[in-house]
Amino acid sequence: MPDSIAILDFGSQYTQLIARRVRECQVYSELFPWDTPTETVLALQPKGFILSGGPASVYEPGAPTLPGYVLESGLPVLGICYGMQALTHALGGRVGAAAEREYGPAVVETLRENPLLPAGSQPVWMSHGDRIETPPPGFIPLAASSNSPIAAMGNLAERRFGLQFHPEVRHTPGGTEILRRFVLEICAARPDWTPASMISQATARIRAQVGEEALLSAVSGGVDSSVATALAAQAVGGQLSAVFVDTGLLRQGEVAQVEQAFRRTLGPNLHGVDASEKFLRALAGVTDPEEKRRVIGELFIRTFEEQARGIGQPRFLVQGTIYPDVVESSAPERRQARRIKTHHNVGGLPQDMAFELVEPLRYLFKDEVRAVGERLGLPPELVWRQPFPGPGLAVRCLGEVTRERLEHLRAADAIFTQELERAGLLRVRPAGGDQTGELVGTAQSFVVLLPVRSVGVMGDQRTYQETAALRSITTEDFMTADWARLPYDLLAHISNRIVNEVDGINRVVYDITSKPPSTIEWE
Ligand code: XMP
Repeated sequence: MPDSIAILDFGSQYTQLIARRVRECQVYSELFPWDTPTETVLALQPKGFILSGGPASVYEPGAPTLPGYVLESGLPVLGICYGMQALTHALGGRVGAAAEREYGPAVVETLRENPLLPAGSQPVWMSHGDRIETPPPGFIPLAASSNSPIAAMGNLAERRFGLQFHPEVRHTPGGTEILRRFVLEICAARPDWTPASMISQATARIRAQVGEEALLSAVSGGVDSSVATALAAQAVGGQLSAVFVDTGLLRQGEVAQVEQAFRRTLGPNLHGVDASEKFLRALAGVTDPEEKRRVIGELFIRTFEEQARGIGQPRFLVQGTIYPDVVESSAPERRQARRIKTHHNVGGLPQDMAFELVEPLRYLFKDEVRAVGERLGLPPELVWRQPFPGPGLAVRCLGEVTRERLEHLRAADAIFTQELERAGLLRVRPAGGDQTGELVGTAQSFVVLLPVRSVGVMGDQRTYQETAALRSITTEDFMTADWARLPYDLLAHISNRIVNEVDGINRVVYDITSKPPSTIEWE
């Protein structure tokens, strides 16, 4: 078992970020709702605790409280924002309402030498209503800002600390260093959470779960299903069969890529099915987006079931559930608040088939899934793929889905992707290679084909063709998004190429709406 940190979630929107930052320090961390049963949390055998922020006020009736085992363990504790207040409240200090809510950037100054904070001053991100009036006995102020006399506090002998600001967000550029000091120096956790250890842990778990039995996987070309399948292949090799359904709704080159990626490892156990004719036939005349999803979802399940039967109906099924999905589903109140549009589980698998699920990515964040994928030798185009909806291009082909229109859409989309790749904008990466810097690149970029025809002129010919809309966004979480400020010259070049090279499209527009009020996909 790797060394780990337990993070108790008091409901902050940033809690997952804390876990990610700790793991960036190569220490495994796991999130638990604050009222998780003691045994569950202690089973992790953590080296220390981090208490997240949260929206409540400690004196509110029913406010979350610090569970007793945290202090009883004698392990190091770091409380962030509400976590600091809960710690203060539990240890007999005083929390009070600040005269004004403090939200946004601030500068904190370290007051004395301590193992958590570097000397000097640093920019941080504040977001709190309450603040510490009197620290608990044994605690001393470690940092102050102009608004918060106790922006950080600590009981150095007992290794307990509190931060009023959020070290986990990018707006606190030195935040990862603070977390690193807590995790590696104060908790003395070993930094052994690496792609290699993630792989050995995941494969050991798969082996323990499936034993000698057969395992089935559905690959879709997406990152998660690909990495989950590659892990299962590594773990139980010949026991694994994978089904890949070509719905005819995939992007250019995708079918060949998936075949190539898995043919070598899976050989004859990779079952590619070309079902594109069937899907197109079922979609003929369908223009309503919900109806498209229904048709595709149903046909996908039927096709998959047929394949599974052909392979002898294995007992186990690999699923690419990743850690954020697990965390979201354990915090119902948050999940509800965040659900902006329900995506039918299209491209999802049959609920009523008697499979036992194997979820090798259950404890991994997306960036860890990618690192594992790279380490397992999957091609970069697959590992770095942007999100793609289950119902595929049907979502982006507004109006009727025909073979011809899909070809136009695929060709235009390939041009957009190529040009963004060439400009270094197809992946999200920190500017200047600095881990804490601003992000550049696009989180998702694609073309939407509109059933809107307009008049154009090419050479001396009048054209009357459809419109391509370019959609390119930046986002941290896909729940909110902004349109990417792509350079005009790049847009001009892409537009030129699409109109010149793609028959059937004579006009290109750029979508400049954010989400909300819009969504990322057009549909
Ligand atoms: P929206 O359009 O709701 O999309 O802003 C948010 C993110 O979800 C992706 N998306 C889907 N993913 N099945 C999926 O697996 C779907 O049916 C689906 N529809 C949208 C979308 O691409 C974006 O990243």
